Amino acid sequence: MAITSPANRLWWKEPIHRVELIWIVIAFLWGLAMFFTMVYWHAIGEQNLANTTYKITPAAFSAKAERMAEQYKVRDELGIPVVRPPPGGDVYLLGRIWMWWPILELEKGQSYRIHLSAMEYSHGFSLQPVNINIQVQPGYEHVFTMTPTDTGQFSILCNEYCGFGHHTMASPLYVVESGAARSPQE
Ligand code: CUA
Repeated sequence: MAITSPANRLWWKEPIHRVELIWIVIAFLWGLAMFFTMVYWHAIGEQNLANTTYKITPAAFSAKAERMAEQYKVRDELGIPVVRPPPGGDVYLLGRIWMWWPILELEKGQSYRIHLSAMEYSHGFSLQPVNINIQVQPGYEHVFTMTPTDTGQFSILCNEYCGFGHHTMASPLYVVESGAARSPQE
């Protein structure tokens, strides 16, 4: 609401200035271009995998992650369990302040159902250097299929600001040869 009413109250019936009209058209076309780039990049970029999202409480999700970690833990790294879930199975990864829990060890060429959720705040799952990015929110379980194509050590970084420790929120993700021996408990 303006402090003083316009002289002509039916302002939308006023003729529009040519320059203003040009800017409206440019902004509209640019909006459309960005929208279709989003759709195009989803299909071509392979960075934002199509995922299904379900509602879940942080407690229920962390219980699933803990159950998996207990069952398939192969060793510890700095007090964090390294977990080697069976190929083809469900894998739970919890974003919490400020780590990805647990550390995962997957097999090359095998498909996994990856479930992501967050404990307290929103985090950004960013798998590097392959550059797969997924927003992770508390209260939601994001599920997608992932098939590692290379062995080695990858990094899962947080790319969404989540507080003091945001810059420290990085975990390794290991990919080993299919059928490789489970490293013994250290
Ligand atoms: Cu988690 Cu930033």
